[in-house]
Amino acid sequence: MRIERLGPDHRVAGFACGTKPLDGWLRLHALENQARNLSRTFVLVQDDEEVLGYYSLTMGGVPPADLPPGYARGLPGYDIGMALLARLAVASSRQGEGLGRDLMADAIQQAALAGAHVAARFIAVDPIDEGARAFYRKFGFRDVPGDPEGRMFLRLDHALEALEHRR
Ligand SMILES: CC(C)(COP(=O)(O)OP(=O)(O)OC[C@H]1O[C@@H](n2cnc3c(N)ncnc32)[C@H](O)[C@@H]1OP(=O)(O)O)[C@@H](O)C(=O)NCCC(=O)NCCS
Repeated sequence: MRIERLGPDHRVAGFACGTKPLDGWLRLHALENQARNLSRTFVLVQDDEEVLGYYSLTMGGVPPADLPPGYARGLPGYDIGMALLARLAVASSRQGEGLGRDLMADAIQQAALAGAHVAARFIAVDPIDEGARAFYRKFGFRDVPGDPEGRMFLRLDHALEALEHRR
């Protein structure tokens, strides 16, 4: 199994993670969005190119006032660079095997690579439901109390440190 950037030969048609909008987006929009520089998608594939999981990333900015408590301390008043982990999913038949964790680790490394060139202090996620929120909390992502959008944030340098400790 390997993780690589989505391409036209990857088999996405049968992908099903149990959350239909995440399946549909991969099948119908991921490749086109990539061609239009709207997002980057990375897929976990087997030798037969069948996709077992994926995540997508884009870049963004966040005003310090929209950050979780403690994260804004000492920052300037303008938007702070961040990478947005817009989607992450694992095929239903392969959930619970650690593949979501592997995809998350890869996403953090890709975000850090981008951040090395364009300065991203945070990685943010938009959890699709409460289950996803619980999953992201496991990795240290923090809620923003009172935020109706429900976006969660993690400092990218802290995420990298946590990965180092895992090794
Ligand atoms: C959420 C999802 C990506 C997890 O993938 P997975 O491969 O099953 O997760 P892993 O096996 O790598 O689990 C990693 C850790 O997260 C935990 N975890 C997995 N799903 C969880 C959930 N819904 N709530 C809380 N913890 C969860 C696991 O118990 C494991 O913890 P441990 O190492 O302490 O045992 C997967 O269930 C999925 O694709 N769900 C549908 C789509 C979705 O919700 N995507 C995320 C939001 S966009």
